[in-house]
Amino acid sequence: MKNIAGIILAAGEGTRMKSALPKVLQKVSGKPMLEYMLGLLQQLEVKRCVVVLGHQAQMVKEFLKGGTKVKTVRQKKLLGSADALWQAKSSFVNFKGHLLVVYGDTPLVSYPSLKKLLQWHRSSGATCSILTAISKNPTGFGRIVRGEDNRVDRIVEEQDADTYEKAIGEINVNAYCFKARELFSALKEVKPNNTKQEYYLTDIIEILIKRKAKVETILAQDENEAFGVNSRRDLIRANAIINRRNIEELISSGVTVIDPATTYIYTDVKIGRDSVIHPHTIIEGGVKIGRECQIGPFARLRSGCVLEDEVEIGNFVEVVRSKVGLGSKIKHHSYIGDATVGKAVNIGAGTITANYDGQKKNRTIIGDGAFIGVGTILIAPLKIGKRAVTGAGSVVTKDKNVPAGATVVGVPAKILKKR
Ligand code: UD1
Ligand code: CA
Repeated sequence: MKNIAGIILAAGEGTRMKSALPKVLQKVSGKPMLEYMLGLLQQLEVKRCVVVLGHQAQMVKEFLKGGTKVKTVRQKKLLGSADALWQAKSSFVNFKGHLLVVYGDTPLVSYPSLKKLLQWHRSSGATCSILTAISKNPTGFGRIVRGEDNRVDRIVEEQDADTYEKAIGEINVNAYCFKARELFSALKEVKPNNTKQEYYLTDIIEILIKRKAKVETILAQDENEAFGVNSRRDLIRANAIINRRNIEELISSGVTVIDPATTYIYTDVKIGRDSVIHPHTIIEGGVKIGRECQIGPFARLRSGCVLEDEVEIGNFVEVVRSKVGLGSKIKHHSYIGDATVGKAVNIGAGTITANYDGQKKNRTIIGDGAFIGVGTILIAPLKIGKRAVTGAGSVVTKDKNVPAGATVVGVPAKILKKR
């Protein structure tokens, strides 16, 4: 969207996490929380993005180096979210557009909800638009206080809410869109008049209303979107919600997941139609699986795996950083790491690629139609030619490439017959 910049507030200390890692780098479903927020802003096509850092700023900065380009600013003293936003002011001098403000610890906020927020903000001409949710259990969240005309008056935080306000079910998700100039002008007026004596961004609503500015609210798709991750217990809950969401999306797109309760599918996994994921299976982020594959039960597909169509991965099989070609089968008790497995390959039970020599990881390449006998150990770097065969229990030592069509047996494996 044109003329919209993004700000992520990520300075908070995250004391309740009790961790050496900054809170926003804690992983939910295999991906750091901050990366979810950056991904959302990217998906929304914001023009640029500023991240406010504070606690363990250096570590977060290091992390940001690897990804898409963002600007960082530093909040020296953690005086509250309004103060955090104020630190970004210098990045927006002469900026006449709109600012989408999100927080580093709300990875459950969704793209459709933020998109709706931006669109409504635009079409209504509001000075400030707030994403809200209706919650059955609003304890702990900021509540949306409305006046007699049902328009928003202010947001009150849990610690400062009276009994009446605590009964309000509409909560603050913590995602806002502001006209940039009006935002920074109103921010100056925020005072730390609350139980925690912090400068709350949420207090800006009352200030804007007093200035007769137009403040709008937009309802998020799902109340979970407001869930902020503050502790390890929250991480568990966020993991469960995102896992379920990932699985639901796959099911809707034509994948069978036999038992979602025992299946872990991390964020950013692609699976083709008519593939079946059997129980007790873990599939990590970035894995790509084709159509009509059978995965599990008890399979673990780690990052960097690409499986073509009709591949079968069975029980107690671990695959990492490997490509597996059309129709190949790895059905029982195997470890396949840093390998390229061709098409129509059969990998016998208990086959291991010894990919690590103590210093570095080496590749194993297995040609189309090869037949790897049960219990074969393939010591990388190694190439097994097309339609080659290894005997049961053979140990194929490194660089002893097996020619196409040859059969090798024994320890160390020797050629029994050539094609
Ligand atoms: C916040 C909202 C609350 C909302 C809830 C949803 C405020 C005041 N309250 O409460 O209305 O319902 O999230 O999850 O915003 N931060 C800084 N610098 C600071 C203080 C905080 O950058 O000085 C950042 C933190 O990194 C964090 C975010 O602000 O990402 C929210 O702060 P936190 O203290 O976690 O607010 P909540 O109590 O969760
Ligand atoms: Ca929080």
